Amino acid sequence: MEQDVNRKEVGTVKHRALLVAIGLLGTVALVASLSVAAAGTKAPARAQSATAIQPPAVPNAKALKKKYGGVSITFVGDAAVGQSHKRDQMLVKKFSQQTGIKVKLVPHPSASDASYSQLARNFSSHSSAIDVMMLDVVWPGAFAPFLVNLKPALGKQAKLHAAGIIANDTVGGKLIAMPWFGDFGILYYRTDLLKKYGYKSPPKTWTQLGAMARKIQAGEKAAGNANFYGFVYQGKAYEGLTCDALEWVASAGGGDFISGGKATINNPRAAAILNLQRSWISQGIVPRGVTSYDEEGARNVFASGNAAFLRNWPYAYSANQTTPVKGKFNVTVLPHGAGKSVGTVGGWQLGVSKYSKHKPAAIEFVRYLTSPAVERFDAIFNSNVPTIPSVATDKAVVKANPYLKPEIAKVVRVTRPARFLKGKYNQGSQIIYQGINQILNGQNATSVLPSIQSRLNRLLR
Ligand code: GLC
Repeated sequence: MEQDVNRKEVGTVKHRALLVAIGLLGTVALVASLSVAAAGTKAPARAQSATAIQPPAVPNAKALKKKYGGVSITFVGDAAVGQSHKRDQMLVKKFSQQTGIKVKLVPHPSASDASYSQLARNFSSHSSAIDVMMLDVVWPGAFAPFLVNLKPALGKQAKLHAAGIIANDTVGGKLIAMPWFGDFGILYYRTDLLKKYGYKSPPKTWTQLGAMARKIQAGEKAAGNANFYGFVYQGKAYEGLTCDALEWVASAGGGDFISGGKATINNPRAAAILNLQRSWISQGIVPRGVTSYDEEGARNVFASGNAAFLRNWPYAYSANQTTPVKGKFNVTVLPHGAGKSVGTVGGWQLGVSKYSKHKPAAIEFVRYLTSPAVERFDAIFNSNVPTIPSVATDKAVVKANPYLKPEIAKVVRVTRPARFLKGKYNQGSQIIYQGINQILNGQNATSVLPSIQSRLNRLLR
């Protein structure tokens, strides 16, 4: 399928500056505050529920079968990140069985920016090959011209979702996507190792994380694990690194890359925290291989018992339950420097292509996937952040997702600079992650940041 789409490539999409709604991205943080009311602070009793839970029934399935039975649609869904692809398979199977609508499930490339390029090619060739697709939270404006307005069919259901995300997915008054799940960066840590090395609580600052990582690594290496590291994260030159670096820089008081339409990334606080991250690699606290780790690359090191700390999204919580670190880890907010702890806002939406030949059936599939019952299933099965506040306060959801505890969920959310870069977001993010990746690979931040800054400013003009 990816190849099908590639073959139809006719050039790059001319993005229109329709990213106004992205300006509202900050309000996505609302979900957190909306969703924590009943979260409580009890320790997570993560149960068999995740493995036992099944996809919910499709409401109105009989009527849908009558109308659309036999129709075939293609859904470009999640990559094999944790249990995400498996979740999609289960939901697709249920939906198809009950409605007779056939859904061809195609995983998108695991890097968000590669996934963006795939869709850009598809849309620019006016291809009908994709009916329903996942859309990253930073894209709605860029792709709005190619997406069906879901407001007439799904406007009522949209009211169940947090208003901030609906605003993010509304461009020029049109609801061009429905929220699928949210995301924000959190710290995973080994509870057993913290205890073993005399630490009562996880690190609050980056300096503390460095010190703890160093001590735990030295001890574990001396005990015979030569492959043990202190800290792992997403250091590859791709969208994920933009997210991680934003957390480092913002939590160090170095701003959020672009402010008031001007690049701000070239500042001493940003340089200091980036050089600190670089030094951890040269000292071996962070593996050199981190510069090629994506979400799963980093998670696998932690999950196999070879790292004390991991930065990742909430999906990793359920994914880690079937690994050797089950029962030996917990989550908390990311550390901070001169600023506060923050988490980068992520998350995915579902859209229907304007070029789809089966829009009504495609919309019914989106209705099912973005319903409260399916979000509840996703939150328990795949520990994804619900975008529906009533789901986020559901007892079983709260039990399965300790990051919903107020002290974690209320962390300051930082947003990538999509509202400034608009249709050029992907290009801007590429400038950022390629530059940061060079720093991690050994260049001094003070020599890289000026060129990131001037290139961003050129893009912003
Ligand atoms: C997660 C986030 C998404 C982000 C991506 C980066 O999938 O939900 O917003 O772009 O990670 O790797």
